[in-house]
Amino acid sequence: MKLKMMYAFLNTDITLIEKELEQTVHTDETLITDASLHLLQAGGKRIRPVFVLLAAKFGHYNIDQIKHVAVALELIHMASLVHDDVIDDADKRRGKPTIKAKWDNRIAMYTGDYIFARALEVMSEVKDVEAHKILSNTMVELTLGEIEQIKDKYNLNQNLRVYLRRIKRKTALLIAASCQLGAIAAGAPEDIHKRLFWFGYYVGMSFQITDDILDFISSEEQLGKPVGSDLLQGNITLPVLYAIENAEFRDKVEQLFERGYEQELINEIISDIKSSNAIERSFEMSDRYLQKAMSILEELPPNKAKKTLHQIAKYIGKRKF
Ligand code: IPE
Ligand code: IPE
Ligand code: MG
Ligand code: MG
Ligand code: MG
Repeated sequence: MKLKMMYAFLNTDITLIEKELEQTVHTDETLITDASLHLLQAGGKRIRPVFVLLAAKFGHYNIDQIKHVAVALELIHMASLVHDDVIDDADKRRGKPTIKAKWDNRIAMYTGDYIFARALEVMSEVKDVEAHKILSNTMVELTLGEIEQIKDKYNLNQNLRVYLRRIKRKTALLIAASCQLGAIAAGAPEDIHKRLFWFGYYVGMSFQITDDILDFISSEEQLGKPVGSDLLQGNITLPVLYAIENAEFRDKVEQLFERGYEQELINEIISDIKSSNAIERSFEMSDRYLQKAMSILEELPPNKAKKTLHQIAKYIGKRKF
C-alpha cells in the first residue's frame, strides 16, 4: 500500500495542514517566501505531521488545536533540511535544486532560520510548558547531531555506537517528539505519550538507517538526488561501517577520500557495498528497531490510529524513497 493511502482517513486534516504551511511561510519578503515555497511545494512525505495527528488520536482529537503542532513539526523538519543541504553540500532534494543551489548558502541559512522561527511562532499557540521543553531539547539535539556528523566526516575509525548516537540526535528524536507532542497536545495521559515517544524513537532510528541504505541501493529518480551522495561527502553511514570491516574495501574508501571525486572509483565502491553483506546487515539493524517499535505499539489501546501507525512502521522498513 502507498504511504498516502495508509492515512487517507486523515485527508481533510492533512489538506488543512498543507494550506497552513503555505500561509505560515508567507511573508512580504518575496525572496524568503519563494525559497520556502520552493522546498514546500517540491513535496515530501509529511511523515512528521502525520505522526502528530495519529498520536493525537490517543487523546481528545481537536484539529484546531493539533494543527499547530503538526505545522510546527513539519517546519522544523524543513528548516533542518535547508541547513542540512548546506552542511552536506547537496544540490538536489525532492527532485529539485536545493535552496543553496538555486540561490546560495547565505540565503539558505537565512531561510532555514526563518522557517525555524515561524515554527516557534506557531508552537506558541500550544500552552503546555512541557511540550515546549521537549521541542527545544529536540532542536538542540538535532543541531548537535548534525555538528557531530561534521566532526566525524571522513573518519573511518568511528564505531557503531557513535553512528547510532548521531542518528538518534539528528533524526530519531524529532520523530519521537512528533509522536509525543501530538499526544500531549491532545491531552493524552502520560503513560500514553511516553509510549508514543518510544514508538517514534525506534521508528526514527529505523527510518534513518533505511535512508542511509537507500543512499546506496536506490536510484536518482526515486531518491530525488544522486546515489552515493553520503559517502562522497565523507559521511560514514551504517552500510560503510559494516563494509570497511573488509580491509581491502577500507583501502578503497581511504583512496576515495584522499583522491577526491573519481567517478570510476565511486561506482566500484557502490557496487562493492551492494555485493557485500553490508546492506543486508543494515536492514537487519533497521528491522531490530522496527520490532521494538511494534512491541511498544502493542501496549497502546486499540484504535484506527494504532493500526495506521503499525502500517507506517512496516512501510518504513520496506520504503523505496
Ligand atoms: C529526510 O527526511 C531526512 C531524514 C531524516 C532522513 P524525509 O525522508 O522525511 O524527507 P521528506 O520530508 O520526505 O522529503
Ligand atoms: C537527515 O540526514 C538529518 C537531518 C536533516 C537533520 P541526511 O543528510 O541523511 O538527510 P538527507 O538524506 O539529506 O535527506
Ligand atoms: Mg543530507
Ligand atoms: Mg546530512
Ligand atoms: Mg540521507
